[in-house]
Amino acid sequence: MTDFAKTRALFRLPDGVIYLDGNSLGPLPIAAEARVARTISEEWGKELIRGWNSAGWISWPRSIGDRVARLIGAPAGSVVMGDTLSIKVFQALAAAAALRPERRIILSDSGNFPSDLYMAEGLVTALGRGYQVKVVAPDAVEGAIDDSVAVMMLTQVDYRTGRLHDMAALTARAHAAGVVTVWDLAHSAGALPVELERCDVDFAVGCTYKYLNGGPGAPAFIYVAPRLADLAQPILSGWLGHEAPFAFDLDYRAGPGIERMRVGTPPIIALAALDAALDAWDGVEMDAVRRQSIALSELFIREVEARCPSLTLASPREPLRRGSQVSFRHADGYAVMQALIDHGVIGDFRAPDCLRFGFTPLYIGEADVMGAVAILERILATGSWDQPRYRQKAAVT
Ligand SMILES: Cc1ncc(COP(=O)(O)O)c(C=O)c1O
Repeated sequence: MTDFAKTRALFRLPDGVIYLDGNSLGPLPIAAEARVARTISEEWGKELIRGWNSAGWISWPRSIGDRVARLIGAPAGSVVMGDTLSIKVFQALAAAAALRPERRIILSDSGNFPSDLYMAEGLVTALGRGYQVKVVAPDAVEGAIDDSVAVMMLTQVDYRTGRLHDMAALTARAHAAGVVTVWDLAHSAGALPVELERCDVDFAVGCTYKYLNGGPGAPAFIYVAPRLADLAQPILSGWLGHEAPFAFDLDYRAGPGIERMRVGTPPIIALAALDAALDAWDGVEMDAVRRQSIALSELFIREVEARCPSLTLASPREPLRRGSQVSFRHADGYAVMQALIDHGVIGDFRAPDCLRFGFTPLYIGEADVMGAVAILERILATGSWDQPRYRQKAAVT
């Protein structure tokens, strides 16, 4: 049985703050402080370069990848950590496209996160030879799948609205047309049950600083289906993906399986924080997380719609069509969100008009939802959000 009172105690949440932004940056897992300190002082400090062997640093991208694999329905040995998500998107996309050399279209949708589309644009420019990125509306993806498409690259949960794609159905449809699939799980991993193996997904990528609470800039992950792992061509052919990195050969030969998706030296201190953060998931069932996330989101929607008439729901109303976030539109959404944050309710804003709220049962409960709605209602009813200081745009929204 998943015990959310127990998981909540594993996080450091500042007094007076209701944190509804774990879909953007998870809070600090208390265990990460001691774990990072130990890696710095005991491992780096005392072991120095020996730490690569004595502390096992060199294999952390794989061992931590196995811990992430459990949370996304992937078998052990199919996930490796490293780099940023944008880099992993590029890597997965290039390897996927190379599996269909006679096709030229990378299909995606306008709900995708811009960095994924930018990386695809960069890849097609580098590849030349008539490669194109085709972007359609999210509900037009299925109809756009045909045998001209090499790769379908989708983010499962829309970062703005929380709209959830049907991974099983779209992957099956893509495979029927011979299309290779790349799924971005940035807003899925740790948010809802993901079944990569059951859905027969080819490639998946994701970040660990959102629902997995690995900390700002925590390393990303890449999944390659075991049936493809020895066929996938690593476009970023760095030395740690080589078959024998310490042979220092002059020519690149891809390493076995998922090892070839490694690029360079892994960020050990960041991985130490992530490893500690993943302890919070031990004994947690994703189905229980999903049930509670839906209960909290439904409560939030019901209360906001009853008490804040100037907000319009931007997320799908049907809970099974959402990830673990809820968004509302307001013409002055940025200022409203700044006022909310000023009053201790932290969510975020996505242009042009979306207020985003993440529901993360590991450390958020019903009382937080009710407390947040009460503050939101007051700010809107009094108009206290309408002040120049709340309209001043910060670099990060
Ligand atoms: C869906 C999605 N893809 C890609 C990225 C970019 O990730 P990174 O900045 O780690 O490269 C993000 C960042 O939030 C994202 O949400």
